[in-house]
Amino acid sequence: MEFIVKALDAVKSLVSEKTGCIAVGVYQQNKLSAAALALDGRGALTAAVRSGDISGKPGSTLLLRDVAGVAAARVLLVGLGDSDTVTEAQYEKALQAALAVFGTLGCANAVIALPCDGLPGRDASWMIGRVVALARGASYRRDGLKSKKEPAPAGVREITIMAPNLKSNRAAVIHAAAAADGVELARSLGDLAPNLCTPTHLANVAVALAKQHGFEVDILEQQDLQALKMDSFLAVSKGSVEPPKLIVLKHLGGKVKEAPVVLVGKGITFDSGGISIKPATNMDEMKYDMGGAAAVLGVFRALGGLQPKCNVIGVIATCENMPSGQATRPGDIVTSMSGQTIEILNTDAEGRLVLCDALTYVERFKPAAVIDIATLTGACVVALGHHNSGLFTRHEEEHDDLADALLAAGRQVGDTAWRMPIEPAYGEQLKSNFADLANLGTPGGGAVVAAAFLEHFTRKYTWAHLDIAGTAWKSGGDKGATGRPVPLLVQFLLNRR
Ligand code: BES
Ligand code: MN
Ligand code: ZN
Repeated sequence: MEFIVKALDAVKSLVSEKTGCIAVGVYQQNKLSAAALALDGRGALTAAVRSGDISGKPGSTLLLRDVAGVAAARVLLVGLGDSDTVTEAQYEKALQAALAVFGTLGCANAVIALPCDGLPGRDASWMIGRVVALARGASYRRDGLKSKKEPAPAGVREITIMAPNLKSNRAAVIHAAAAADGVELARSLGDLAPNLCTPTHLANVAVALAKQHGFEVDILEQQDLQALKMDSFLAVSKGSVEPPKLIVLKHLGGKVKEAPVVLVGKGITFDSGGISIKPATNMDEMKYDMGGAAAVLGVFRALGGLQPKCNVIGVIATCENMPSGQATRPGDIVTSMSGQTIEILNTDAEGRLVLCDALTYVERFKPAAVIDIATLTGACVVALGHHNSGLFTRHEEEHDDLADALLAAGRQVGDTAWRMPIEPAYGEQLKSNFADLANLGTPGGGAVVAAAFLEHFTRKYTWAHLDIAGTAWKSGGDKGATGRPVPLLVQFLLNRR
C-alpha cells in the first residue's frame, strides 16, 4: 500500500484529478464539506444528498459514478455526522467506512479529501497517521496456513491524502507506515500457531531483524540463564521440552552515553497453566501469551525502518509453560536472580516469574526507563475490558512523568492505556509464610497485585508496566492479534527524541 500527501490548496483542482475515486465528507442536514463543494460545480452532489440516499451519519457512504464535470471515475460521499459536534470516534468511523469501500473498488488508486480541521487538538499529521494505520491494518491477512487462500481482495493500492500543507506531513506518513510494519510483525507472530511460534522461533526472528537493520543481538541459552541464577524464569520452563531463551536486541542510534529505554516483553509461547492447569475452553488463546514479546519485536521492526537517534534495548524472556513430571509444583520455592525467594503457589501465575528475572537482568543497562509489556492477568481484562491496556507505575514524580508520556502517546495513535494504582497495601497481599514473596496474592485486584509483585524487582530504575491481557488480541469470530501496544510504544519513543 502506497500513501501520497497532497496540499489541500489543490482542492480546487480536485475536479481535474484523474483517479479511481475521491472520498469527500458530507454532514447531516445535507451539508457538503469544502472538498465536496469543490466537486459540486454541476450540482450532482447536492442532488445526491437531497435525494436522501445518504444520511450523513458517521460512517454512512454513497458511491457515485461518472459525476458530471469531475475527472475521477467515482466520488464517494462519506457521512461525518453533525458539522458542529464531530467527535474523534465519529471521524474515525467515517475514515474506516471510506477505507472499507476503497477495499472493494476495482480501481488501483483513490483520494481521501475529508476535512481534518474539525477536531480540537488534532491536526493533519494526526489524520494522515490514522489513514495509514487503518488502511494498513485492514490489509492484514491471516490465511498464511490455509491451503486454499482467500481470493486476493480487489481494492485500492495507492491512497492520496489531501491535507493542509504542514511540514510534518511527510514524516507522519513515514512514522505511521513504520509503526504499521511493526504492528504487522507483532500480529503475525501472535497469530502463528504455538507449535510453530516457539521460543526458538522468536529468537530466530530477533536474529533476522538484527541482520536486516543492524541491531546488536544476543540470545542467552538455558545454561546462560542458569549461570545468571535466573531460577524463577527457569522454574516456568521446566515442564517443557522447548528450550527457554532470553533475547536481547539493541538499537543504539543515540549518543554512547545516553541512557537507553529498555523494553521487556513476556514471551510465554504457550501458557497451559502448568501443573495448575487451565480449563480447556479457549485454552488455544494462550498462544497469545507472547504478546509482550511480539510487541517488542514489532517496535524493533519500526525502529529498523526509521533508524531514530536514540538508544533502545529490547529484552524478551521466552519459554513455554507446560505440565510434566519435571514441571514446577505448587509449593515449590525458588530463588530469583535478585536473591528474593518466591513461593510458587500457582504455576499459572508464571508471567511474573519470568519477568522478575528479566527485570533484574536489565539493571546492568543503567536505563533511563524500563517498560515491561505483558499479557499478565485475566483480572486486567475484568478491570478494563478490551479498550485500554493497564498502565502501572509507582506514584512518584519521575514515574508519574513516564506514565503521562505513555498515556499521551497512546492517545495520539488510538492505542490507549489507563493508569491503575500501585500501593504498598496491594503488595501485602503477596505475603508468604515460607519465602520472601508468594507468586499468588489473596483475592481481589489481581492485576494490581501482579504489578505489585513486579514492583519488588524494579526498585533500581524508573519503571512502567503495561498489562495487555485485554488488548493484545481479539476473541470470538474475529479472533486474531491486534499488534497492540506497538503504536503506543513507537509513538512514545519518537516523542522522546
Ligand atoms: N497469561 C495469563 C493471563 C491471561 C489470562 C491473559 C486470560 C488473558 C486472558 C497469566 O499467565 C495467568 O494465567 N494469570 C492468572 C494469574 C492467577 C493465577 C493469579 C490469571 O489471570 O488468572
Ligand atoms: Mn498463566
Ligand atoms: Zn501467562
